[in-house]
Amino acid sequence: MKTYALFNVKGGVGKTTSATTIAHILATEKKQKVLLVDLDPQSNSTSLFALKDVNILTLLKKVFVENDLNVLKAYDYTIGDLLVNPDLDVHKVIQKTSYENLDILPAFLDLAEIEEKMKADIRTPQQFRLKQHLDKVANDYDYCILDLSPSINIININGLVLADYVFTPLKCDLWGIAGYCIARNLIQTVSSYNTKLKIAGCFFVQWDTRLSLGKQIREFMSGVMPDLYIDIQIRKSVKAEEMTYEHRALSDYASSANASVDYRKLVDYIVAKY
Ligand SMILES: Nc1ncnc2c1ncn2[C@@H]1O[C@H](COP(=O)(O)OP(=O)(O)O)[C@@H](O)[C@H]1O
Ligand SMILES: [Mg+2]
Repeated sequence: MKTYALFNVKGGVGKTTSATTIAHILATEKKQKVLLVDLDPQSNSTSLFALKDVNILTLLKKVFVENDLNVLKAYDYTIGDLLVNPDLDVHKVIQKTSYENLDILPAFLDLAEIEEKMKADIRTPQQFRLKQHLDKVANDYDYCILDLSPSINIININGLVLADYVFTPLKCDLWGIAGYCIARNLIQTVSSYNTKLKIAGCFFVQWDTRLSLGKQIREFMSGVMPDLYIDIQIRKSVKAEEMTYEHRALSDYASSANASVDYRKLVDYIVAKY
């Protein structure tokens, strides 16, 4: 199982869109067995592929009147349960999606609280809790795609401990690029105990072809980081926003959209090189 992490300490740069689209293309077009792992309490990857039909009025009553958050959980067990329970069977947590070859390890909002619970339990090393579970399914999948949150925390470290390569989506702004630098420092720390971990590179997402500085920015990036800049831009597409309401992968919902075409190019590049 080859493992790719999508990571940037900045939010809203395209980690989830990239993770879900890359996972979908690998599974459905490249016919690979793929496990998508959601490590973000925002659970956006999970929501995209959650199969459960929800009635909004029932939800509102449960959450606001009965104070029952669990009703929002699409699945009985999520990744947080694995992080705090070494005896939980990972097979019970992994879910099928509606796409052939694509399974998901779902997250839930409680992942934010889980971090505190992990700190309180010192029986097993905190960094390796997810690895202990996923080692058991490593032979069942060709690829594992990790959708990380924009944070420096123990949950992301659990992801980086598993990863072979880290890819960083960048938006063409200062903070996305600063987020890349901060992420790089954490990756360097984790690579001291996950020696296979490598920074594969960064690529621009939500790329605006009308950006007059675009050509200069690409030339600059290729010049200063020739090994780490992936010169494939994922173009802006309104479909990237719409697909989240349709609960479908971008490359399924809008197969011929510019962004889908670009992601296919990226997947071809990644598979050939890494
Ligand atoms: N290529 C794209 N074109 C237009 N909007 C995009 C594109 N990629 C992502 N977005 C939008 O940008 C926002 C942030 O993307 P997301 O993947 O959720 O980022 P992150 O996971 O880094 O927080 C979302 O609303 C998403 O729909
Ligand atoms: Mg995200």
